[in-house]
Amino acid sequence: MTEQKIQLGAQTISCKADESVLDALLREQVAIAHSCRQGVCHSCLLRSLEGAPPIEAQHGLKEGLKQQNYFLACLCYPQQAMRIAHRHHSNFITHGTVSAKQALNAETLLLTLDLDEPLDYYAGQFVNLRRDDGLVRSYSIANNSIYNKQLTFHIRRLAGGRFSAWAHEDLNLGDRLAVSEPQGLCYYLPDKPDSPLLLIGTGSGLAPLAGIISEALHQGHRGDIYLYHGSRDLNGLYWLEEMQALAESHANFHYYPCISSGEPPEHVFAGRANDVAFSQLSTLKGWRIYLCGHPDMVNNTKRQAYLKGASLADIYADAFHVASSSLD
Ligand SMILES: Cc1cc2nc3c(=O)[nH]c(=O)nc-3n(C[C@H](O)[C@H](O)[C@H](O)COP(=O)(O)OP(=O)(O)OC[C@H]3O[C@@H](n4cnc5c(N)ncnc54)[C@H](O)[C@@H]3O)c2cc1C
Ligand code: FES
Repeated sequence: MTEQKIQLGAQTISCKADESVLDALLREQVAIAHSCRQGVCHSCLLRSLEGAPPIEAQHGLKEGLKQQNYFLACLCYPQQAMRIAHRHHSNFITHGTVSAKQALNAETLLLTLDLDEPLDYYAGQFVNLRRDDGLVRSYSIANNSIYNKQLTFHIRRLAGGRFSAWAHEDLNLGDRLAVSEPQGLCYYLPDKPDSPLLLIGTGSGLAPLAGIISEALHQGHRGDIYLYHGSRDLNGLYWLEEMQALAESHANFHYYPCISSGEPPEHVFAGRANDVAFSQLSTLKGWRIYLCGHPDMVNNTKRQAYLKGASLADIYADAFHVASSSLD
């Protein structure tokens, strides 16, 4: 790969060999929304104005967007000069007002946003939240889709994290955030109400799983639903009582909180959530699997689930990639 020229409006930028378009634009201080840098959040969507972009840069985009030569800047390593443009309309489709903030544990905040407009989404999807200075981050919706004007999120504080630490400390009731259209394919589908569901999440990965479980139970899902929520120690778990109460009131919902270090108290299991799950379940043939949280856990568990008989088409995953080398 060699250096290529990128033209954006009146500005021409050199994209170095082995550099993504996103990195080149950020190097030149061009304001461009981005978050995961992994092709997941779709916040860095741009359009090629002359010819098709590299096919890898369109991974995961809807067919309509592909045909219009949209691409993801973080996945785009140009093989020729490109003329590009920002997307012509924003994917931030509404705003939300912070109506509640509550600590779920020492590191996780339950944030409630009251939306200006109702949002159509599937339980388990995520949105991008944008604050006034343009910083964008993805967060999974934690409630079920009957709440279309009030979204809840579980935001885990990362030390030095620009959005998460700010949301914990400086975001106030009444403050406003822009909210993108919902995204992601990790959501509940009501088409197989008798199939067993396995949900595994770590840390704030419980957020989309809680939404999926609530939606499934609300829609009368009849198959068994197994939730394994993992953390290193007890301090990292939350909603134990709520999930235990849900398991007591729904015979088909089974809840396994897990900790990977230290001695677990009664009703909590020792080991990583994925290891505990796979030691208890013999086959996953015909199951639907939902995996959310740390990217390493998600990738390893995907493989384990496949080896246990799950079809790849039935494994839905959202890895919470953190944009740790973001420049803005
Ligand atoms: C699809 C999806 C869904 C998600 N859902 C959730 C969710 O429901 N809940 C949730 O809590 N998170 C979720 N995330 C993660 C979330 O989007 C953010 O990435 C996360 O909150 C961290 O953002 P931040 O701005 O706080 O951290 P950043 O400022 O981006 O920093 C991330 C980490 O990297 C470190 N870092 C930053 N810059 C440097 C540097 N130059 N050198 C060394 N270290 C550095 C920081 O100290 C911090 O620990 C999701 C992510 C994706 C992709
Ligand atoms: S898809 Fe490019 S930054 Fe997330």
